[in-house]
This record gives sequence, C-alpha cells and structure tokens, in this order.
Amino acid sequence: MTAQDGRNGGGKADSDATADAATADTSAAVSVRPLERGLTVLRTMSWPGWERARPGELARETGLARSTVDRIVATLDRLGCLRFDGRQAELAVPLMELGNAYLAASGLPDALAADVEELADRFDESVSLAVPDGDGVRFIAQATRRRSMSLAFRIGDALPAERCGPGAVFAATWGTPEWTAWRARHAADPHDTGFPAVPSRQEAECEQDFAVRAAHARSEGWALDDQLIEPGLVAVAVPVHAPDGTVACALSTVSHTSRHTADGLAEAVLPALRRAAAAMERTLMDRDGERATVGGELEAIGAVGGKAELGAGFLQSLARGLAVLRALGAARGDGLPLTAVAEATGLPRATARRALHALRGLGYVASDGGLFRPLPRVLELGYAHLTGLPFPDLVQPHLRQLVARVHESASVTVLDGTDILYVARAPTVRIMSANITLGTRFPAYPTAMGRVLLAGLPATESARRLKESEPRPVTRHTVTSLPELRRIVADTATAGHAAVDEELEEGLRSVAVPLHGADGRVAAALNVAGHSGTTPLDATREALLPALRETAAAIEADLRTASRHHRLRIP
Ligand code: PHB
Repeated sequence: MTAQDGRNGGGKADSDATADAATADTSAAVSVRPLERGLTVLRTMSWPGWERARPGELARETGLARSTVDRIVATLDRLGCLRFDGRQAELAVPLMELGNAYLAASGLPDALAADVEELADRFDESVSLAVPDGDGVRFIAQATRRRSMSLAFRIGDALPAERCGPGAVFAATWGTPEWTAWRARHAADPHDTGFPAVPSRQEAECEQDFAVRAAHARSEGWALDDQLIEPGLVAVAVPVHAPDGTVACALSTVSHTSRHTADGLAEAVLPALRRAAAAMERTLMDRDGERATVGGELEAIGAVGGKAELGAGFLQSLARGLAVLRALGAARGDGLPLTAVAEATGLPRATARRALHALRGLGYVASDGGLFRPLPRVLELGYAHLTGLPFPDLVQPHLRQLVARVHESASVTVLDGTDILYVARAPTVRIMSANITLGTRFPAYPTAMGRVLLAGLPATESARRLKESEPRPVTRHTVTSLPELRRIVADTATAGHAAVDEELEEGLRSVAVPLHGADGRVAAALNVAGHSGTTPLDATREALLPALRETAAAIEADLRTASRHHRLRIP
C-alpha cells in the first residue's frame, strides 16, 4: 500500500480532471496547477509514515518531477506548513490553520465541544462528533477516555461509512446517488485501504448488512457499531440535526467489550445520548440566527509579497490558493461571496475565483448560489497527524532550531510540585556536565526555569512552594533565603525571564523564559543552558534572550493553533 494508491492519495488524476473541468482556458488551468500539485504533496505527506519524507521520495510517490517537488516543499516551508529536519521535510503545526478554517466555518466544534466533554465525563467513555465526508465519515471533535488498548481516532481521521455508527446514521438519509457513490468506492476498495486510520478489512462488507443498519438508523434514530472497526470496539451513534432538518453531525459514545456489550452500551447510554443530541440541536438553532447575520471575523490573510522578495522558486499561486482556503474560515452559514474572499486575501477577484474553483474541483470547497465554504475533506491535509502530536513532539522542532542558532542545549520543563520536570530537550554536541534526560527532575528554586514557572503562579502559591522546598545550598552560589527567593520570583514575573549562574551546579548557567498556553497562563518554561565560562552573566543573558523570546513566541503560536479545536495536554 502506498500513499498514492489510497483514496485520499489519488491527487494527480484528481488534479488533471479538475483543471479540465473547472477552467475553460488553458492559461487559467496552468495557473492553478501549482496549487493542485502542492495539495497532492500535502495529501501524500498526510499518509501514515509519510509525515516526514525527502523530496526525492515525494517525487517518486507523487509522480511529480523532482524540480516541481523541490519548489513545492520550498514554498510550503516558507509558508510554515512544513519544515526541514536535515534533508527530510516534515508536516508543521501552521498547516492546521487550513483544517481550523473548516472547523471554524462549520461552527460545530465551537458550539458543541463543551457538551461532548461533559458527556465523556458523565459516561466515563469516549465521545465524538463526526460529519459526513463523501461516502465516508470524518471526526470533528473527540473527548477520549479510552483506557483499553483499542484504537483512538483523532480529529480529521476518516472512517468508511459502512464500518461505524455515524456512517449508518448518515446513510439513513441517502438516496440513490449516494448509494451509487458508496457502491462504486466500495467496489474499488473493498478492503478500506484508502482509510489509513482503520485496520484494513479482510472480508468485504456485505451491502445488505449496511443497508439494514441504515434502515434501523432511519426508523429508530440511532445506530450501533458492534466491533465493525476492530474486535472489542463498540459504539452507539445518534444524529444531531441542523436547524434546516438535515443531519449536521453524529454524536457517538464508544466503549469496549470488556466493559459493555454493544447492546448493553446502547441500553446504558441511549437516553442520555438522545437528550444531549436534543440539547445540541437547540444550541444550533439558537446559534443559527447569529451565524446567518454576524459572519466570522474576516482577518486579512497571509499577505504574500512579490516574487523577487520571496525568491525565484516560490510558487505564488500555491501560497495564494492556501490563503483562499484559510480565508474561508470566516465563512458562516451558507458561505462567503467571492468579493469577501478577494478582500480578505488581497487577491484580484479573478485569481481568487480560479483558486476557489480549483479547490472545489478537489473536494475541499463547496459553492452554492455564489457563496463558498470549506468542506470536511480539508481535514485530510495533515490535521489528524498534527492534532495527535503530544506536547513534547510539538516543541521539539523549535528546540532543534534554537540549538542550531545558539549552539547551546535547550530544554522545556513543567512544574511538578516543587520540582521542574524535563519534558523536551535538544542537547548540543558539546559535552555538558549536567546529565539531563527526559524525566529528570531538579528542585525549582535554584533553576532559571523553576523561577520562571514559580513566577507564573499567584504570589501566595509560589511562596508556599518555595517554603515547601526547604531550600538548601546545592552549590556555593545557591540562594536559600526565602524572602530573597520570593523577591527573585517577583522580579522574574516582572522581567519575563530568569538567568541563573551556578546555583544548581558549579560552572553551569541557564537563561529561561515562560511558555504560555492558549489560555494565556504559564504552562512550561524554555531555557538555554551552557558553561558559565568567563563571560559575565548579563552578556550571556543579552546574547540569548532574543533567540529565546522568538522561539517562545513560535511555540506559543503553535500551541494556539494546535489547541484551537482540541484540548492539548501539557504534561
Ligand atoms: C470514535 O469516536 O472513536 C468512534 C465513534 C463511532 C464508531 C467508532 C468509533 O462507530
């Protein structure tokens, strides 16, 4: 199985068809080709195992010329959607802004995610929201409480409709065209190899079974998944209707046969699940009025400079197409008119129109009555992988870049009681005296990161923890007086950084800044540490602070993007 064999990987054929269908004249077709090819590369890199790849491998996999792939990855790197680690390109968090645009425009996670969380707490089981995506199903919200060893899906993952509860709920409303499309896909890919999030199936689904489940969902208003995805995994799904009566999404509860049989789960959760769906329908109804009239915030999107400024290899039409997709995040209700898209992106109308039509041809955008809105398929562009990245993986590339810039080791820690705990680290090649690995702990009071973390707490709380630490002289230089430590922590809060020389270990100095989570609170600390040498501490601080602050800002931007629609756990 390769990325290009899969359902979501067939970009080349799609692109050519789109170019032919969506644009009448050849020059227009040529002008959107970099966008189509850029999306082909992003789709390929979204396939499991391809999130990091060399341009040469991408060229072989996509069938695109090596020189084309080089220009695409250089452009995507410049836009922040991917970055290089040595010779490998890897997907980067800013790419999530595309998926975030779809999620914002759909309005469903914003309106319903809190209810999903609450339900998961109440049931102590995973709860999710999924929307129809062609003849498949795509997750748009997840509150995971999975204790067993079964699969956990991420926002953006797609399932075949015939193998899950939400699929039967959506199929309950299908007419002949939808069943025909499903049949064609199913015949072309009977083992679901085009759905990388699910284990591929050995025996093909019998259409009759799926039709029976869809009919049950139609007459009873709910559907069961009795281990359709993998042994042990059971789920119950109910529809959540939009104010116009169509099914907006499916609300599911998932469990495991070690806790519930499928029927037992239905019996246990259905009444509450139905009440929750009814409450969600009321929320959507209340929101409907607001959304139709207010519209989303139309921020100016990624002004893309002139070609000279961006380098000869920069693919402006790829950058512009992605800016158009992001701009659609402001779409509410039925969508945005062309004029609004042109305005938000600063693009000429004809350019914006060509990009919109190309995106529509690829299944990323819908248009109706001159209004454009993004479709769930946008989430196939790296969203599931990036939303699944744990915090340390998210900060690691930034640490790598920081170390390359300052040639000293960089680390990220969190506060755990009175200790700092290392959760990410990028060492230099130079030998450091401090033998630090992930999971290493130090007392907070004699460290720069500890002081930054304590400074993020209310003063009474940091004072309490300092006292509880029972400070003692770790080196000749350690400050141990509680009043002085309280003053240092207060100064750290004002200054926004801390610098510590030889208080934890002779010969070792560290400069640290806070990392704020999406809620604005200090969530972690970032430092650069090295030998004290003969340079005065002030000089070291001045030398390191700009790089530290820029890195912290880049990490904080990623934290905001990554936690826009899901709860990112910071250890
Ligand atoms: C899930 O949320 O993981 C889920 C939902 C419905 C299914 C299977 C899994 O049928």
